[in-house]
Amino acid sequence: MTRSVGILGMGCYVPEKVVTNFDLEKIVDTNDQWIQERTGIKERHIAAPEEATSDLAYNAAVKALAAANVKPEDIDLVIVGTATSDHNWPSTACILQDRLGCTKAAAFDLTAGCSGFVYNLAVASQMVKTGLYNHVLIVGAETLSRIINWKDRNTCVLFGDGAGAAVIGVVEDGYGVLGIDLGSDGSGMKFLVQPSGGSREPASHETVDKAGHTIHMSGQDVFKFAVKVMGKTALQAIENAGMQPEDIDWLIPHQANMRIITAAAKRLKMPMEKVWVNVDKYANTSAASIPIAMCEAIEAGALKKGDNIVLDGFGAGLTWAAIVLKWAI
Ligand code: UT7
Repeated sequence: MTRSVGILGMGCYVPEKVVTNFDLEKIVDTNDQWIQERTGIKERHIAAPEEATSDLAYNAAVKALAAANVKPEDIDLVIVGTATSDHNWPSTACILQDRLGCTKAAAFDLTAGCSGFVYNLAVASQMVKTGLYNHVLIVGAETLSRIINWKDRNTCVLFGDGAGAAVIGVVEDGYGVLGIDLGSDGSGMKFLVQPSGGSREPASHETVDKAGHTIHMSGQDVFKFAVKVMGKTALQAIENAGMQPEDIDWLIPHQANMRIITAAAKRLKMPMEKVWVNVDKYANTSAASIPIAMCEAIEAGALKKGDNIVLDGFGAGLTWAAIVLKWAI
């Protein structure tokens, strides 16, 4: 019989420091009203100077392991989804594996932009389903504040730092991951990119001077793409799960922009009471946004065993990803 695979426990962490829209008014030509009306964001958390992505990931992972009641030495694989790894290489997953004491685990980072956590869950669940592994630790963690151009009002107001983690393992029959849809369209890579610091444009004084190591984004192109794919990928994952949109109890979308979330909910005909929204408090934390939202929903007691949940994301690549889960804990 095939194994049912799902989430055994989750944890999240956001840095202490909160930066409000009013704080940003002091550094760029923006205002709270514009940011709230166009994005729904009120504030975001920003990492302390000594905090790197693996530190955020560690804090989230410790909580996830405790919630799942799984010991670090029982983890077979660590996957970190991030666009802001501690170093270009080696992977942040290896740094995390060592710090947690996951002594028998393999480890790698996965690059799928803001879709990273959902991609991670797809990969991890299949590896447990086949019997290759029993426990996989997946993390979405970002310190986007380190690659923000704080002079660019088009982007600097949109992002925040944070991490979310989950332990993946065997769950009761019929629960866990039921439908997956992943996709990509690399022709849109130019719309959301950190141009410099890789092999195409190695770091130089010039790349620093032109802010090539920061986020470059064509907001409207990403917005149009997001509105198109969020509904489409969620509907495909629901169909792959053998369900109808009306079977879904919760939509947990990537938290990039309230207008994008509303459009996705509309496409799925989901009332907003069934959509988990926290973009106001954390802004866009990229690969961390969906697991942070899930953690909040768990803490609020909103997710009940047996609930059908759709995780729905899009991001740099361009990528998109949706998973239907029957909540198992
Ligand atoms: O995880 C994926 C990451 N990226 C995204 O999800 C981004 C998707 N895109 C968006 O969310 C939206 O496109 C934005 C929020 C980035 C921008 O909203 P928009 O409604 O598409 O605004 P816009 O880019 O068309 O800009 C409208 C105006 C412009 O001024 P003019 O040319 O009309 O005079 C901008 O210069 O708003 C101006 N503007 C700002 N004004 C105040 C842009 N940023 C700001 C700002 N404060 N922070």
